[in-house]
Amino acid sequence: MLVASNRGPVSYEVREDGSLRAKRGGGGLVSGLSAIGPDAGALWVCSALGDGDREAVRRGVGETGVRMLAIPADVHADAYNGIANSVLWFVHHMLYQTPLEPVFDAEFRRQWASYETYNRAFAEALAEEAAEGAAVIVQDYHLALVPGMLRDLRPDLRIGHFSHTPWAPPEYFRMLPDDIAGQLLRGMLGADRLGFLTHRWADAFTACCAEFAGGLGDTRIGVHGLGADADFLRRRSHEADVTERMAALRQEIGEGRRAIVRVDRTELSKNIVRGLLAYGQLLDDHPEWRERVAHVAFAYPSRQDLAVYRDYTAEVQRVAEEINERYGTPGWTPVVLHVKDDFARSLAAYRLADVALVNPIRDGMNLVAKEVPVVSDEGCVLVLSREAGAYEELGEDAIAVNPYDVTATARALHAALTMGPEERAERTKRLVAAATALPPAQWFLEQLQSLRAAV
Ligand code: G6P
Repeated sequence: MLVASNRGPVSYEVREDGSLRAKRGGGGLVSGLSAIGPDAGALWVCSALGDGDREAVRRGVGETGVRMLAIPADVHADAYNGIANSVLWFVHHMLYQTPLEPVFDAEFRRQWASYETYNRAFAEALAEEAAEGAAVIVQDYHLALVPGMLRDLRPDLRIGHFSHTPWAPPEYFRMLPDDIAGQLLRGMLGADRLGFLTHRWADAFTACCAEFAGGLGDTRIGVHGLGADADFLRRRSHEADVTERMAALRQEIGEGRRAIVRVDRTELSKNIVRGLLAYGQLLDDHPEWRERVAHVAFAYPSRQDLAVYRDYTAEVQRVAEEINERYGTPGWTPVVLHVKDDFARSLAAYRLADVALVNPIRDGMNLVAKEVPVVSDEGCVLVLSREAGAYEELGEDAIAVNPYDVTATARALHAALTMGPEERAERTKRLVAAATALPPAQWFLEQLQSLRAAV
C-alpha cells in the first residue's frame, strides 16, 4: 500500500548547530493520515518542502516508511505556490472575487508545466515503488494529475485519490481554461476510485465531470467524512505540556472569564477577520460581556511565500489589535491572539473552550469543529459555518451561521454564551458522537477496502 501527498507526516528544520529537528506536519490531511502509523507497512511518498526537508533528503535522514522526493526548488514553487495554492485552492474554495481574480496568461501556462512535472515525479516514484497490484492512494489537489499518469505507467495498480478540499460547482469551476479543466478532471478520473469528505463536494465534482469530461466513466465516487481521533486527542491533551499551557492561557484569559476559542491556519478561507469583527459587534451589542469573556484566537502561519497570505496575516493582527485598543481595560485583553504554531497550546485552548468559533467561507471538512467538543473539559457550544464540510454531520447540534453575515455571527456568539448548561451538555454529547463516528484509522481503512472492492 502506498500513500502520496505533497506534505508528509513530518517536516525538518535545520537548527543553528546544523542538526535537524523533526516537526509534525500541519493541516487536516496530515492529522487524518498520521493515524496510519509506521506499523501499517505503508510507504508514504511526499515532497521535500523546505530547506530542512531537502537537507534531510540529502543526508538520507527520514522516518521509516516515508520517501521524500527532492523536487527542484523552482518546480516546487511553481507547482505548490503558483498552481496548487494560488489557483486550485482558490477555485475549489470559490475564493476569487474582485479585485482578486485569476489571470490565465503565459506565466500561468509556464507554472502549469511545472505542475505537470511535479505530478510526473510522484507518478514515477510511485510506479517504481509499488509492488504488482498494490493499492495507491493519492491525496489532494496538489496531485490531481497523478492518477492518470500512474495508470499509464502501471495499469496493474489499484489507484485511489482523496480530496481534502471542497469542490466547486460547474459554473465556478468553468473559470479554469477549458483544456486545463479537462486535463485536471481526466487526471483524477485515471483513478479507480475518488474520495471526498462530503456529499456536497462529491456531487459538485460529478456535475463538473458531466459538463466538462463526458461523465465519470468507470471511476467510482465515495464519501468518507474524516472524524476526530478521540483516543489520541484525549490522551495527548492530558499530558504535562498541555496542562502547563492551560495554566498560562487561563492567566491570559483571566480567572472566571468565558473563552470563545478558534484555532486555524491563517488562511483566507477560514474567515478569521469576520470572526473578529463579529466578536467586536458582540461587545458593542452586549456590553454586559465586556470583561467577562475573551476571544482566544490562534492563527498559525501558513503559505507565507504567497503575498495574499502574508497580507491576510497582517490584517488579522491589525483587526485584533484594534479590538483590544478599543475595548480593552488594564485588567482585560479582549482578544488573546497567538500566531506561533504550538500544538500543545491548541489543545490547552480546546480544553478551556466554552464556545468554539468555526466560521470558514468554505472548508473541505474542518477538523477543529470536531476536535474541540471532544477535548473541551466542560463541553462547549459550537458556532459553525454552514459552508464547512463538517456542517453536514454536526449542523443540527451546532449554532449555524452564514460566514459572510457578521451580525448573525455576533448573535450566534451571544446565543452560545447564554445557552443553559443542560442544553450545552446534551449538544456536546451528540457533537462528540458525530465527530468521532469515523476516526482517522477507520477512515483510511474504509477507503482502502472500497478501493480493493472497486476493481
Ligand atoms: C489543507 C490541504 C492539505 C494541506 C493543508 C496545510 O488541509 O487540504 O493538503 O496539507 O491544508 O496546507 P500546507 O500548504 O501547509 O500543506
